[in-house]
Order: sequence, then C-alpha cells, then structure tokens
Amino acid sequence: MDITILGIESSCDDTSAAVLRNNVLLSNVIASQAVHVKYGGVIPELASRAHQQNIVPVVDTALKEAGIGVDQIDAIAFTRGPGLVGSLLVGVSFAKGLSLAQRIPMVEVNHLQGHILSHLIDLPDRTLPHPEFPFLCLLVSGGHTQIVRVDSPASMEILGTTIDDAAGEAFDKCAKVMGLPYPGGPVIDRLAAEGDPQAFRFAHPRVEGFDYSFSGLKTSFLYTLRDAVAAEPDFIERHKADLCASLQTTIIEILLKQLVRAARETGIRDIAIAGGVSANSGLRNAIAAEGRKRGWRTFLPELKFTTDNAAMIAMAGYHRYLKGEFASLDIAPVARLEELL
Ligand code: KG4
Ligand code: ZN
Repeated sequence: MDITILGIESSCDDTSAAVLRNNVLLSNVIASQAVHVKYGGVIPELASRAHQQNIVPVVDTALKEAGIGVDQIDAIAFTRGPGLVGSLLVGVSFAKGLSLAQRIPMVEVNHLQGHILSHLIDLPDRTLPHPEFPFLCLLVSGGHTQIVRVDSPASMEILGTTIDDAAGEAFDKCAKVMGLPYPGGPVIDRLAAEGDPQAFRFAHPRVEGFDYSFSGLKTSFLYTLRDAVAAEPDFIERHKADLCASLQTTIIEILLKQLVRAARETGIRDIAIAGGVSANSGLRNAIAAEGRKRGWRTFLPELKFTTDNAAMIAMAGYHRYLKGEFASLDIAPVARLEELL
C-alpha cells in the first residue's frame, strides 16, 4: 500500500513543505527568509514571524505541485528539533492543527536524522544512489558537525561531534569578519574558486578520536586578519579570494582527517555527507577524491537536499510511520539535540 507523507521543516530560517509517496519525492517547496541578510545572521524573532506567514502558502504549494488534495495525506511529519524553539513551534503547531482537522497521525522527526536520511530519497523520474547499511555519514550543518554510524533508518550512533563550533559556523563567522553577507558558506565557496588554497596557513586542531573543533581555526583566522589589516587597511579586499580558498581548504582538511580515521577504525566503506556544508564544492571534490584513493563508495546528496528542506523530514517521518511511532498532541519542540536522545 502506498503511504503519502506531508513533511514540514521550520527549524531555522527556511520554511519548507514536501510530499513523499513511499520513498519517492512528489514535491519539495522551500521559502527562504531574506529578512536576515541585512543583520548578518538569523534573528529568531523575525524567523518565527516569517514562518507564521509562509507556512500555509508553502504547504498549499507543495500539495498542488504533488497533484494531491489534503485528504490524500496519510500522516504529517514535522521537525521537533534541534533548532530555534520559536521557529519549530510554528511547524509543530501547524502539524497539530492539520492532524486534528484531517484525523491523521503526526510523526516527530529529529532534524539531524532527516539530513542523513535524505540519502534514501528517490525522484519520480529516476532513482538516486543510496548507501548501504551500515554507512558513515559526515553531517555538516550550521549548528552541528558529526560523524554518524547509520545502521538502519531507526538506529544511528554519533561517533564524533564538535566540541565547540560547527563547520558551517566556522564558514559563517569567518565570512562575517571579512564583511561578506550571511550565510557565508556559499559566498566563500564561490570566492575560493579564484584563490590560492596555500596562500595562508591557519591552525589545525589536535583532537582525539572522532571529535571536531573549529574554534582554534576561527581564532587564528581572526588574528591573521587583525595583524594584516593593521599593517595594510585594504588587506581583506585585496586578498579575499586567497583568504577564502585557504580557509575552505583548512576546514575540509579538518573534516576529512577524522572521517578517514572513523572509516579506517570501523571498516565501513560507504561514506555519505549531509547538511548545508555538504553543498560545498571543495568538500564534495575532496570526499570524492579521498574515496577513489581509499576504495570508498561516496554519496554526495543532490544540492537541493543539502540545506534545510522538508523532503528529508518526510523521508525520516516515513520510516517512523512504518514502525507506528506516532507523536501525541501534547508534544512540544526542543531546542537541543540532547533533549531528543
Ligand atoms: O543544514 P543547514 O541548511 O542548516 C542547519 O541545519 O544548520 O546548514 C546551513 C549551513 C550554513 O552555515 C551555511 O553557511 C552552510 O550550511 N552552507 C555552506 C554552503 N552552502 C550552505 N557552507 C559551505 N559551502 C557551501 N556551498
Ligand atoms: Zn539543517
């Protein structure tokens, strides 16, 4: 029997709705919030209000694009966390309203598991490459950096995590000091293409096991800029591409070092990446090259499934639905991952 899931994502600054039939994506609509650009970061209060304005039209468009009526949905999957509580509340409350109105169950989804399970999605006109279980997923987003061992859609273990900043945060914060717009990751990615990745050296962390740290890199980037700008006021402007290329290369080297270690120690050779930073062209090339060298099968998500989207939430929700794991009407969003475990 076909199962049709409506997915809702509102954890940060993208309002998204998607329709999934089994593992085939019928629609995936994303309203990105431009309101934050002029502040150089997400303003939670403004994000909540924009979600509130966007959610109904976004869901409506997702249903229309999927060619289905609201009465054809079997369940609503929503992001419960981690994320901004005011933003999550909009999606959770919407899911409750629709669940009551349509008398259909709700399924809660862990946003990070959603990113990982985006690798199980297929499109109506073609199947996509899917890793086999168990696989390792390098999850790199604005708020998290983790190496996750994925044994099944329902069973995952975090092998390593950042002890301070996330990789996306390192991109965004360093971009901000260079006066680049938010979010910094895509801008650095673009500028890095024209720069020399060996022009500058920044600090590499020494972290045991599979954990990450990016705060030392951020500090060494800041100090390099501070000293250089004191001597040469237009330093950033003149060296922007080289700074971006060197920074991006350092972030990639840090990410790969622990991932290689995890692959070696677990013996797992199906390696996936997920999350907003997995859109980074340098990281994608580096993972593919490392995979060729080490005999991994590497899985790079389609770009539309890298940054926040409801397709991945519907996908994760589908697997919980199959297990009969429904949410009750008193469910509330949670800000931190630890509250979900
Ligand atoms: O997964 P995501 O959309 O939201 C969170 O769950 O955090 O990730 C957003 C992060 C931001 O830090 C953004 O700068 C980064 O992903 N990002 C990129 C690229 N595209 C988005 N970082 C590097 N290169 C990119 N092309
Ligand atoms: Zn995300």
